[in-house]
Amino acid sequence: APRIRIADSYEAMSAAAAEAIARRLAARPSLRLALPTGHTPLGMYRRLVEITRREALSWGRARIFLLDEYLGLGAEDPRSFRRYMEEHLLRHLDPAPAVDALDGRAADPAAECARYEEALAREGIDLVVLGIGRNGHIGFNEPGSPFDSRTRVVTLTAETRRANARDFGGDPDAVPPRALTVGIATILEGREIFVLAAGQAKAPAVARAIHGPVDPSLPASVLQRHPQVTWFLDREAARLL
Ligand code: GLP
Repeated sequence: APRIRIADSYEAMSAAAAEAIARRLAARPSLRLALPTGHTPLGMYRRLVEITRREALSWGRARIFLLDEYLGLGAEDPRSFRRYMEEHLLRHLDPAPAVDALDGRAADPAAECARYEEALAREGIDLVVLGIGRNGHIGFNEPGSPFDSRTRVVTLTAETRRANARDFGGDPDAVPPRALTVGIATILEGREIFVLAAGQAKAPAVARAIHGPVDPSLPASVLQRHPQVTWFLDREAARLL
């Protein structure tokens, strides 16, 4: 069974997740981490930067991988996930960890996915931190993604493009229709997995992921098959448990 940590507020949830990551980094300075974007982890990154300063933690030997990227957006694009990570985490860490990310502007996206899959396998990921979409997606593995999927190019659902439109001037059609993402099998290879969810909009997906049938129609349900999962929830996201 997964560990489920329910916090009283978004801030408390963010702090709990950040503390847990910091403890792992302190124990293993060469930590290999796969990290999510989205609105949910913003508080966690803020707290992680604070803890890093307070405890003089060093990221110099760590390595960070990003879970996904929009197809067509490069690191210079302010809406890219690569830029997000720079703004919210990396530029606040000194020394900064090594970073690898899927290049949304790669000339050959399939080759880029193969390169990334190899890099992940070579390094071995200690901890994968995930958010969860309202439809239960993890990374950009939308409903229907095969459980044996690897890093690849995917088509986003209309629902996900609507949910992410706020980052694109509110226009779902401005959200890139495709993305690159690590696969479900790739995620499951992480030694440990954290999932963060906040707010009542996530409550149905969280409840189904934890207690519902393990089925590709709700990608996060596959986490029931992993032995080391911790959910970090606020009260609203935990409401239907
Ligand atoms: C995004 C990302 C996911 C993220 C999810 C939830 O599209 N690809 O990695 O977990 O959707 O985002 P948010 O935290 O903003 O709700």
